[in-house]
Amino acid sequence: MEVVDFDGSHLEAVIELCSREGWPTLPADRARALRILTAPGSKAVVAVGDEGVMGFCQVLSDGEVQAYCSLLLVRPESRGRGLGRQLLFEAVRRAGGSRVDLLAEEGAVPFYRALPSREWVGFRVYPAG
Ligand SMILES: CC(C)(COP(=O)(O)OP(=O)(O)OC[C@H]1O[C@@H](n2cnc3c(N)ncnc32)[C@H](O)[C@@H]1OP(=O)(O)O)[C@@H](O)C(=O)NCCC(=O)NCCS
Repeated sequence: MEVVDFDGSHLEAVIELCSREGWPTLPADRARALRILTAPGSKAVVAVGDEGVMGFCQVLSDGEVQAYCSLLLVRPESRGRGLGRQLLFEAVRRAGGSRVDLLAEEGAVPFYRALPSREWVGFRVYPAG
């Protein structure tokens, strides 16, 4: 397994992982998904093994201090082996930044608690209502 920068050749596999997880945003529009995953100021990485893409992570960063994890997903068959941690830390290392904020889904809370972290109250604001 190796962690590599995301490129267009990984798009279908990433969309498939999202679909299997029940995440609708990237599968809804492939062209938009590619723009999202290659957006300026962000870094997306994928874990690739013999059977293809095993997981991916995207981090938005100011390049110096503050990063935000917008996407992190490991395929169910590959969980519990350190891949989620590796993807998150590697994405931040490549994007730049000394700390990373995120909104945790309920099921991922134990994962983030196992990392060196502090818990805050998080909000998602919708400017368009
Ligand atoms: C959350 C997710 C990315 C974790 O990936 P993973 O590869 O299974 O996690 P890791 O194996 O790297 O785990 C790292 C640490 O978290 C712990 N951990 C992970 N999942 C855990 C769980 N459900 N309960 C308790 N501890 C857990 C591991 O034991 C490990 O701790 P350790 O280093 O002390 O042994 C993965 O479960 C996933 O993709 N879930 C579905 C999508 C999702 O929720 N993404 C996050 C959105 S906010």
